[in-house]
This record gives sequence, structure tokens and C-alpha cells, in this order.
Amino acid sequence: MTENQSPVLVEFDNGIAFVTLNRPEKRNAMNPALNARMLEVLDELEGDERCGVLVLRGAGQSWSAGMDLKEYFRDNDDKPRNATLKARRQSGGWWSRLMYFEKPTIAMVNGWCFGGAFTPLVSCDLAIAAEEANFGLSEINWGILPGGNVTRAVAEVMRHRDALYYIMTGELFGGRKAAEMGLVNEAVPLAELETRVRKICAGLLEKNPVTLKAAKDTYKRVRDLPWDLADDYIYAKLEQMLFLDKTKGRDEGLKQFLDDKTYQPGLGAYKRSR
Ligand code: ACO
Repeated sequence: MTENQSPVLVEFDNGIAFVTLNRPEKRNAMNPALNARMLEVLDELEGDERCGVLVLRGAGQSWSAGMDLKEYFRDNDDKPRNATLKARRQSGGWWSRLMYFEKPTIAMVNGWCFGGAFTPLVSCDLAIAAEEANFGLSEINWGILPGGNVTRAVAEVMRHRDALYYIMTGELFGGRKAAEMGLVNEAVPLAELETRVRKICAGLLEKNPVTLKAAKDTYKRVRDLPWDLADDYIYAKLEQMLFLDKTKGRDEGLKQFLDDKTYQPGLGAYKRSR
């Protein structure tokens, strides 16, 4: 298989790893080969210094048309039940890796986004969509409910009434509506999508990576904790972060503000020694 035929492409540019779901002829529907490769890619990028931010996008006109209905459903229909169970386990592998990935992650939704694709969408830390993109919880039209943790993903970010409306009707909605409902951070015209995402990446690349990882994980973990446990977890994470940050960013920021008078938080980030 040549690189271009791979179901997932990876390109690096100035600290950004562009990860492209690459089955444009199938509208980037996620089949076993794509899902398996995504897991490998995430493993590879975790320790790759060229990846400071991961941007997940789709080749061609689609972000992802969801689960591959042929390879995951039709092809398993006549097989013993364990084939279905195996397919479920295999397909679900990478959203949880993405959810707590070492680096910041941005879903750059350039086109169609259906069903199973909502789980990696929500697993990314941020999501920026093209206004022209179309989203659909189309499962209801296939006689199924949103599995592959799509229902949970939707409950995480969408309002109750909106989530139920689109789960039950399967109606399409566009990028602006997705932003209005909280499914993505914002929507911009397709022609401006990459520029906007690159701008966000540039800001994130200025931040202390150890702090970023701790801050995003902490937010995601404490949401479901009782307050006293959350308080304890947050301090534990903070102390872990200070230990892991070999650049001593906290001390440096305090020094630049309190002693050197070279840094004011309102005017930007303190200068990191890299
Ligand atoms: N699974 C398998 N194959 C798919 C999928 C999918 N989810 N989506 C598209 N394809 C295939 C088509 O079967 C077709 O294959 P073929 O060329 O071998 O016939 C090819 O991709 C192109 O699809 P078209 O429908 O011709 O492309 P078009 O640009 O006209 O439409 C659209 C794109 C709107 C995304 C359409 O393909 C579609 O509705 N796909 C299904 C979306 C969906 O409901 N996904 C499943 C959600 S449920 C779940 O994820 C569990």
C-alpha cells in the first residue's frame, strides 16, 4: 500500500500534525482498516516532537460518513455473534485514546459528519466546522440507535432538547447550528477553515505543553466527580504537573511578573524557555 492509499494520512507543519481520514471514495467512512490505523497513528504521534497539536480532518468533501455500514454491519450479519462483538471492540478503540491524548486535539470538520463520527468529534478537545459542513445523527434512519458511544458523546456537549431532537429525527444540520448547540466551538466559511484552525494551533503551541495536558484532562475528569473528590483530584493533578514540568513554567512566570517585571498576564503568555 502506498502512503496515499493509507486510510489515514499524517503531515507535519510547524508543530501541527494534520491527521487526515483518507477514504474519500467512501466519504471517509470508518472501516476496520481505518480504525486500526488511527490507533497506531495516535501511538506514533504521542511521542513525536513534530506534533504539538493534532488536527483531525477528512479527505475530500467529507469529514467522516460514520461507521462503514458494509464492513461493520452487512459483512458481519451472517457471522456468529462474536464477530459483531469483536467489530465493536475494534471500532471503539481510538476515541478514548483521542479523548485523553497527550497533545491538544482539534477536529477540523470540513464536510459531512455522520453517526459514528460524532464520537471522535466530541473526543477532540476543540472542534471548528465549516459553515457548509452537514451533520446528521442518521442512525434512526438505519433502524438503529446511536451506538459506538455516540449517544454518550452527544449527551456530553449538546443540550438535552437538541440532542433528543436530532437523535429522534435524524435531520441534518449545518455548521452554524452545530456551533449554536455547542457541538463545535465555532463555524467559519469553508474557505477560511484551515486558516482559523492554524491560528488556534499557533496559540496553543505557545502554551506550556505539560500544563495544557494537565488542564484539559482535569477539566474532562472532574466534571463527573463530587466536589470534594474533584478538589482533591485537581490539587493532585496540579502537583503532578509541577513535577512533570521540567521547564518550571510556574516559577518562571512568577519570576517574570514579580521580579523582572517583564510579563503581564493581560498582555500575553510569559516567555517560555524551551
Ligand atoms: N458506510 C459505507 N459506505 C459509505 C458510507 C458509510 N457510512 N457513506 C458513504 N459510503 C459509500 C457509498 O456506499 C458509496 O460507495 P460506492 O461508490 O461503492 O457506491 C460512496 O461512499 C460514495 O457515497 P455517495 O452516497 O455516492 O456519496 P455522496 O457524496 O452522494 O453522498 C453522503 C455523501 C451524504 C455522506 C452519503 O454517502 C451518505 O448518506 N452516507 C451515509 C451517511 C450515514 O448515515 N452514515 C452512517 C451513520 S450510522 C453509523 O455510523 C453507525
